[in-house]
Amino acid sequence: MYRSIFSPGLFDGDLVIVTGGGSGIGRCVAHELAALGATVALVGRTPQKLDTVAREIEESGGSAHPYPCNIRDEDAVTALIAQIVAAHGPVDALVNNAGGQFPALLKDISRKGWEAVVQTNLTGGFLMARECLNQSMQKTGGAIVNIVADMWGGMPGMGHSGAARAGMVNFTETAAFEWASYGVRVNAVAPGYVASSGLDAYPPEAREIILQAGNQVPLQRMATEAEISAAIVFLLSKAAAFITGAVLRVDGGRPNVRLGFPLDARRKVPPFNGFHLARLPKVLQDKEQD
Ligand code: ADE
Repeated sequence: MYRSIFSPGLFDGDLVIVTGGGSGIGRCVAHELAALGATVALVGRTPQKLDTVAREIEESGGSAHPYPCNIRDEDAVTALIAQIVAAHGPVDALVNNAGGQFPALLKDISRKGWEAVVQTNLTGGFLMARECLNQSMQKTGGAIVNIVADMWGGMPGMGHSGAARAGMVNFTETAAFEWASYGVRVNAVAPGYVASSGLDAYPPEAREIILQAGNQVPLQRMATEAEISAAIVFLLSKAAAFITGAVLRVDGGRPNVRLGFPLDARRKVPPFNGFHLARLPKVLQDKEQD
């Protein structure tokens, strides 16, 4: 069972949609929310991954349902939210977590590649949030958490994703203002380097960067998926009732590093890992053996 720090039953009776729920942070937060009583609608492109996570959650005593959908497809998103509301009732919360990018320098990114990343990381999130608002939350309120990234000051090697995530932060701020009168809070979580399965999707050339990443963080490691999940769960919870339009960085202080001030290699803050099914990505397992 998930070892959440939050109260048992915190989300009893709530319906939460998690996009990108088939792996990584999405899978982890789906498990934590289900362990706290939520019914989780798992959205993603790959049905098998969603089925596996739904089964894992059921086996852990929770409730989850797979909803395959490409969030870039406006009609599909509109139909998806209608289908979820018809099956489960009002949507209490949305975790806009689905995303993806490929490493490339700006000079090498085609228009097609740029637009694909912007559609996944910005437009898809907007469509999901807009449909949740228009088809459900407008009537009953709710909470939205958009997952962005540590792109402060630019995102070399992933400029398309940085631009999209920065856009998502501004969307979060506008939606927080426009949707407050419906009782809808909109916040963002900005993870830094996370030891999640997504790291295995990067090409071999990225291996050294991944292995060195934790050393460039004041807290001297990567985040666990559970550390990101805890931030999301807090922002969705009643305890965050007066928080809207905020971005919660969960990055070990990475953006606070300054040239000329060397990092101290001592690791003093142990990780929190409440996720009972957490597994190190392959690229980091290799590191342990090196
Ligand atoms: N995860 C990554 N990209 C996605 C997409 N386009 N739709 C749904 N989930 C996704």
